[in-house]
Amino acid sequence: MKVQGTHYRSIWYDYKDCQVKIIDQRWLPHDFRIVALTNLNEFAVAIRDMWVRGAPLIGATAAYGVAISLSDDASDSGLKNTYDTLIETRPTAINLKWALDRLLGALTPVSEDERPLKALELAHQVAEEDVGINKKIGEHGLEIVKKIASKKPAGEPVRMLTHCNAGWPATVDWGTATSPMYHAHEAGIPIHVWVDETRPRNQGASLTAWELGHHGVPHTVIADNAGGHLMQKGEIDLCITGTDRTTATGDVANKIGTYLKALAAHDNGVPFYVALPSPTIDWTLRDGIAEIPIEERAESEVTKMTGRTADGAVETIRIVADGSPAANPAFDVTPARLVTGLVTERGIAEASREGLLELFPERR
Ligand code: MRU
Repeated sequence: MKVQGTHYRSIWYDYKDCQVKIIDQRWLPHDFRIVALTNLNEFAVAIRDMWVRGAPLIGATAAYGVAISLSDDASDSGLKNTYDTLIETRPTAINLKWALDRLLGALTPVSEDERPLKALELAHQVAEEDVGINKKIGEHGLEIVKKIASKKPAGEPVRMLTHCNAGWPATVDWGTATSPMYHAHEAGIPIHVWVDETRPRNQGASLTAWELGHHGVPHTVIADNAGGHLMQKGEIDLCITGTDRTTATGDVANKIGTYLKALAAHDNGVPFYVALPSPTIDWTLRDGIAEIPIEERAESEVTKMTGRTADGAVETIRIVADGSPAANPAFDVTPARLVTGLVTERGIAEASREGLLELFPERR
């Protein structure tokens, strides 16, 4: 998608420099910085410390991480060490394991000499597939938006709420939750997006608002706790979020706070959709609350906030009293019963085992 009129992906291979490049998302929206990741350690740090984040992008970054790491050591032990290092970086997004398993499976039978090139080819495949999948999610999600728009007086926007950033910076391109928004916007359907700020790291305020702004999509940032009130007042036509891991039964793990939005949506009769590429489905799990590992991140993400001061400097300040401890579970699980539908690249599934199997019959 575009940044100041120029098309970017969140990760790409720069053939001129023979390097993998990313947008370092820690600095957004204040600073647009591109950095190269040049060895296994840098890839691991970039994922763990959230220079890149969002389930699909974590998967694509891991795939490129394997390729770059194998250019240093393509032996069996090098491959194992790469897998073991990257798999430890973040626990909730299943796309990480999906990508690493895919590369490990394909590279194990390949000779050491051929592995680096083959790994790069596979990483490109993972990235390209993600773009295609997210475009399809947008096409299917567009049908939901069109249906709601058709029931409104001409010219009135479809008002959607989203949580966290499931936009193009969370994927290779298009985003998942934002893809229907971009498709609707491009189709000339008026929309307005309520953007949850998404404490503690503010992915909504820092990333979703930023990317929608660069595309001219009308939006308003709200405090995380405002969504329920807006739903009661009839200001939200639908919610659409992303997910880091969805069980085979349709339970959905996503950024902390998603569950509360789903509860409020349920109470107010607002449809609650989750957009997801199929690599985000963990077909081995049945009970999301019991089985999905929830990442616990540093206290400092809660006790501190980063922003730009009046003189233009980006600074981090403490907002919690000295000595008060903080807890920081990074995700929560929304049970399938609260999810109106799962928007996938193959269409919209009911959030249930049967619903998913109808779209993915090869998993029966
Ligand atoms: O901690 P983050 O920023 O990686 O969390 C991201 C989310 O929760 C997204 O909603 C999810 O990964 C889906 S991205 C298409």
